[in-house]
Amino acid sequence: MFNYTCLNPIADVGLKLFSKDYKKVDKVEEAEAVLVRSCAMHDMELPESLLAVARAGAGVNNIPLDKCAEQGIVVFNTPGANANGVKELVLAGMLYASRDIFGGVEWILDNQDDETIAKRAEKQKKKFAGHEISGKKLGVIGLGAIGVLVANAAQHLGMEVYGYDPYISVNAAWNLSHNIKHISNVEEIYKNCDFITIHVPLLDSTKKMIDKDAIAMMKPNAVLLNFARDLLVDEEAVVDALNNDKLGKYISDFPNETTAGAKNCIVTPHLGASTSESEDNCAMMAVRELRDFIENGNIVHS
Ligand code: MLT
Repeated sequence: MFNYTCLNPIADVGLKLFSKDYKKVDKVEEAEAVLVRSCAMHDMELPESLLAVARAGAGVNNIPLDKCAEQGIVVFNTPGANANGVKELVLAGMLYASRDIFGGVEWILDNQDDETIAKRAEKQKKKFAGHEISGKKLGVIGLGAIGVLVANAAQHLGMEVYGYDPYISVNAAWNLSHNIKHISNVEEIYKNCDFITIHVPLLDSTKKMIDKDAIAMMKPNAVLLNFARDLLVDEEAVVDALNNDKLGKYISDFPNETTAGAKNCIVTPHLGASTSESEDNCAMMAVRELRDFIENGNIVHS
């Protein structure tokens, strides 16, 4: 009998892949394997019995990698399993930044009891006019599973897409649509793009990679999107730029004190991978990886 525990609710469809030889326990101390989504494990005591941690998601910044390496604990993640969910939210973010959907809907809600609403709406609509993303320049920083999907989809929406990734994998390069310009100097993206979206992992080397200098190069009406991790961006510099009309909008999936209430800042509560499809895919991939390790000793995506 093999004991595992879940630190966050993981989609049932994944858990069903464990056969009856696997027992779900409540405590990490009793487990040989841990399934985790976003819960931070840094302050946790990891028992000697623990053999593996499977992260149902791409980023592993919630896992104490050094501690795991020291204790010989294998760490798995699920790259690509939620890429489509994140891609769709990035596209929604760009559209949301360009069209005043929120303002329009709010006006309707405020006036829904008015019998003359249809007539008044016609007069109001000028105030909610927006821009189209088609024809605009999009810079994608990081061409992994998510970046490539965003780049390809944006191109299909008529955007002119520039990609930057000094470490692009052969697989990603193969999947990248032909007309996307893969550039070697990220400054070209900062200076020329109307929308800039970041899709790199959070590492010591990428922390605050979008810094004050990078932001200063951006167009004053540029939209910066961050669906990767908040610490990749110097958000104090972002808020300062937004307050001084040096940056158009900041769309982030990571609420925190720095951006709370900031002007032209639109924040969602880490929803990128929160679709039933992405949750199922991540849970299934994580459980399959774990089972393959336990049953066959195979280590993939770690
Ligand atoms: C990821 O790193 O893939 C996401 O943060 C997943 C999640 O929302 O759990």
